[in-house]
Amino acid sequence: MNVSDLREEYTRFGLSESDLDPDPIEQFRKWFEEALNADLHEPNAMTLATATPEGKPSARIVLLKGFDERGFVFYTNYEGRKAQELETNPYAALVFYWGELERQVRIEGQVVRASDEESDAYYKSRPRGSRLGAWVSEQSRPIKSRERLEEKVRELETEYEDREIPRPPFWGGYRVVPEAIEFWQGRENRLHDRLLYRYSGAKWKIERLQP
Ligand SMILES: Cc1cc2nc3c(=O)[nH]c(=O)nc-3n(C[C@H](O)[C@H](O)[C@H](O)COP(=O)(O)O)c2cc1C
Repeated sequence: MNVSDLREEYTRFGLSESDLDPDPIEQFRKWFEEALNADLHEPNAMTLATATPEGKPSARIVLLKGFDERGFVFYTNYEGRKAQELETNPYAALVFYWGELERQVRIEGQVVRASDEESDAYYKSRPRGSRLGAWVSEQSRPIKSRERLEEKVRELETEYEDREIPRPPFWGGYRVVPEAIEFWQGRENRLHDRLLYRYSGAKWKIERLQP
């Protein structure tokens, strides 16, 4: 195997200024719908990058659970590593990679917690098993064994046997409020299209970047 021989030509689509919606959220909606229609596996999976106040980055995948003019929402534990980084340095970057469409979207901005009402509504919509899972996981902390985790679920199952499971106070949504969104379309000979929206002076400005 020679990793350096792995090489793809990107030839499927182009992205021109005239294709773009002036509103990046609408542009995202269009690409996201195309990703859904292309039957990709988990098109809402995105890389979330955060950093400590000292600037040490970390990244992981989370699932996009909503987006609109206010931003891009995901749900997580408010005490794990990413949350600790976000609480002390409330900026993040998101990256979507839709390989079959030869597309990438990069989003950057400030991060705010979703409202309790919004987190409650989403938590209620989750399957019972996921709701219990949120309670038992002290996310990002070590645990002695897998058995201990499963035992905690069983204990909780008994406790909430015929009761509604409330949302844990340490679990909920974050919203990335975008100040920059870049749409990347792979092209031949690495001459890719990159269109960057930046929020400035209360409006979105678009510029083309070199590949
Ligand atoms: C496909 C996929 C989807 C995931 N979705 C989420 C999610 O929505 N929320 C979440 O907290 N973790 C999610 N995870 C787990 C995270 O990648 C990560 O392991 C976890 O959030 C702990 O990260 P942290 O220690 O940096 O806080 C997902 C992982 C994968 C591979």
